[in-house]
Amino acid sequence: MTDQNKLQNLKTVLKKYGQGHILAFWDRLDPAMQGRLLAQIAQMDFAQLDRWREEFVLTASPFKLPDKLAPAPFYHNQPSDAGQRAKYDQARQFGDKLISQGKVAAFVVAGGQGTRLGFDGPKGNFPISPIKNKTLFQIFAEGISVACKKYKTNCPWYVMTSPLNHQPTLDIFSASNYYGLNKNDIFIFQQGTLPNFSLDGKILLSDIDTIATSPDGHGGSLRALYNSGALADMQKRGIEFVSYYQVDNPLINIFDPLFIGLHALDKAEMSSKALSKTGPFEKLGNFCLADDKVSVIEYSDLPNDLAEKTNPDGSLAFELGSIAIHIISVSFVERLNSHGFSLPLHRAVKKIPYVSDDGKRVEPKEPNGVKLESFVFDALPLAKKSIILQTIRSEEFGPAKNATGVDSAQSARQMMVDRAASWLESAGVKVPRKADGSPDCVIEISPGFALT
Ligand code: UD1
Repeated sequence: MTDQNKLQNLKTVLKKYGQGHILAFWDRLDPAMQGRLLAQIAQMDFAQLDRWREEFVLTASPFKLPDKLAPAPFYHNQPSDAGQRAKYDQARQFGDKLISQGKVAAFVVAGGQGTRLGFDGPKGNFPISPIKNKTLFQIFAEGISVACKKYKTNCPWYVMTSPLNHQPTLDIFSASNYYGLNKNDIFIFQQGTLPNFSLDGKILLSDIDTIATSPDGHGGSLRALYNSGALADMQKRGIEFVSYYQVDNPLINIFDPLFIGLHALDKAEMSSKALSKTGPFEKLGNFCLADDKVSVIEYSDLPNDLAEKTNPDGSLAFELGSIAIHIISVSFVERLNSHGFSLPLHRAVKKIPYVSDDGKRVEPKEPNGVKLESFVFDALPLAKKSIILQTIRSEEFGPAKNATGVDSAQSARQMMVDRAASWLESAGVKVPRKADGSPDCVIEISPGFALT
């Protein structure tokens, strides 16, 4: 087929799906630009995009409450009786064994932007520690380094970026000499992207030769692990479990033997840590059993009467919130990808710069388009087995998402100080405290020191 015929065919396909405008500037493009645009188009499945356009772009698919909905069962933070204590002990020992056998890797999703934090550049480079100003990446690296020493093993670190921050992330790791870790044990890879749509379902161009795209959400990690070769690398190294966490949480306990051990003993495929919510409407996804499958239902989708429903002891029936900490079995990611899977897409209406019909770039002042994302917790119902371990907020969850206020750098730093103070006190050190009980000092404990 001649190039002319191929182009004609492509035009026909795009037109069929109402996306003919993608080639509107074709005659103005030089061969290199044409090649770039064709390469981008070649990666897209327009029949699939058209289904998504119908289902997720043109209307927000209304959330349908499952027919059978109940709170999800979970392991309490502390064992409730002697039988369970024995199980927790066994799990801890098993988790220790798995880590020391080099079967557990760290996996941070760091493809998002620090927009809310008001930080330019990869969020992992945000200085967060209260005294030494260590960055998030540095804190994670220290946690990994000390786990390697404690367990006398290699604990590889997988870092997912996106086209928004991939090269800067590589540069940061290189400039910081991989934070003292072995460069060969760090695998930095990019997640996929999805095209952006106008509100009426047309794929937007960000330039005359470029389709506007954005990262496909942290749910994209399950495919990106596979496509990037990270999963194959894990299999080569004998990794069986990944400890998944978000880049914004400096309090993360990456290698938790109890969590890893419970997951493995129960033969779970994807497991979660959860918090008891501060109230019925705390903005965390709710752990539920939806049609008998562990699932997360967004706080905005859980009807008020269910959110407020209480147990006989007054506690919330839907007590547990999701904090995006998971153990994921490598075999689960392999199974999903080799059999084909899809996660639901979530729609976000945003201001998306685009090229107008006359070829001029427009920076919209009002939301003008739709970005689509998938969420990793939507994979939970695909797991044959999924367990939940309740954890304590002050020990493990202090996300730095916003510039100020709730879940901000400031609140995360304060939580780091509070946790360090309570660790010191439990080791018998006297910590000065204010009248309101908060530490009257600033303390920082290196993750390296804490774990040894
Ligand atoms: C998320 C969760 C919420 C959870 C909270 C815990 C969603 C919809 N909500 O909220 O249930 O309680 O965290 O802190 O996920 N990321 C990528 N690629 C992407 C998008 C995001 O790697 O395409 C990464 C970010 O770098 C970050 C993490 O995913 O590490 C969370 O992303 P973010 O958009 O900040 O989620 P939240 O709305 O804060």
